[in-house]
Amino acid sequence: MSNKPHVIIAMKVSEEVENFIGETCTYQKWTGEGGMPQAELLKLINEADGLLTSGARRIDKELLDQAPRLKVVSNIAVGYNNFNLEEMKAHHVLGTHTPYVLDDTVADLVFGLILASARRIPELDRFVKAGQWKKGMDEVLFGSDVHHKTLGIIGMGRIGKAIGQRAVKGFDMKLLYHNRSRNEEVEENLGAKYCTLDSLLQESDFVVLMTPLTPETRDLMGSREFDLMKPTSFFINASRGETVDEQALIEGLKQGKIRGAGLDVFRKEPVDPENPLLQFPNVITVPHIGSSTGLVRDAMAMRAAHNLVKALKGEEPIDLVI
Ligand code: DGY
Repeated sequence: MSNKPHVIIAMKVSEEVENFIGETCTYQKWTGEGGMPQAELLKLINEADGLLTSGARRIDKELLDQAPRLKVVSNIAVGYNNFNLEEMKAHHVLGTHTPYVLDDTVADLVFGLILASARRIPELDRFVKAGQWKKGMDEVLFGSDVHHKTLGIIGMGRIGKAIGQRAVKGFDMKLLYHNRSRNEEVEENLGAKYCTLDSLLQESDFVVLMTPLTPETRDLMGSREFDLMKPTSFFINASRGETVDEQALIEGLKQGKIRGAGLDVFRKEPVDPENPLLQFPNVITVPHIGSSTGLVRDAMAMRAAHNLVKALKGEEPIDLVI
């Protein structure tokens, strides 16, 4: 029996990441798509000192009770709302995440959703491919401008700042933000204006939700909030689905309270194909791909592996959340 720590790699990672972990640990790995099924993980977790996983896996009492040796759970994600922090603390299990490496990539996706919603790119792509382009420019095909409009970011962290840079430097937009605390750097460098949630919703042409999911941000956007938005405005969510009351968003879209939406995240993922949000031509959907480029996913997995190994060596991981 090896005296190296034992790790479960519960999602597909590159050979480089696997080899890095293999230098100091023994491991079992999942090579299929979509991550190791929970039932499978529960069979293996009693032998594990460390777990490398996506942010989609709930780290709860059920799992922790069956993991007497577990010292660290390393998320390959910046979000860590999958951690039951109290239970992890009670079970003396550390939790880590992967900030920084994905900021620009998520910001690019958010900008893609802004542009695609405003200029109706997916809708008009379907229009052309369906052979419906029979005459010249028609007003029914017109979209909305992005440049020189007002962008409101709820949650001005690292990713919010990267979105703000694109907005101000690339599109001459006016930038508003709402956050738990003031961010002097974006105020100074990007001319961002701090405002209350209500004034941000009332004044923005594009509202981007970028907050982490916490008890305070759960259901942050409900019918009162969509009522405050302009009928010409767009709502973009790349945070977590649970920050939005989806029924309120559906009603808001039906009643024309907002012009459209771009969604990377949903309350239930993968999204239910029957979810009414998928029926609106003015709602653009993508399958939670904010950080999903090959390069960045590899960088996140490597960062997560470093966090994991450091914790197992008894050192402080760089991205410790608990
Ligand atoms: C994360 O890392 O938390 C993001 O949601 C991935 O897109």
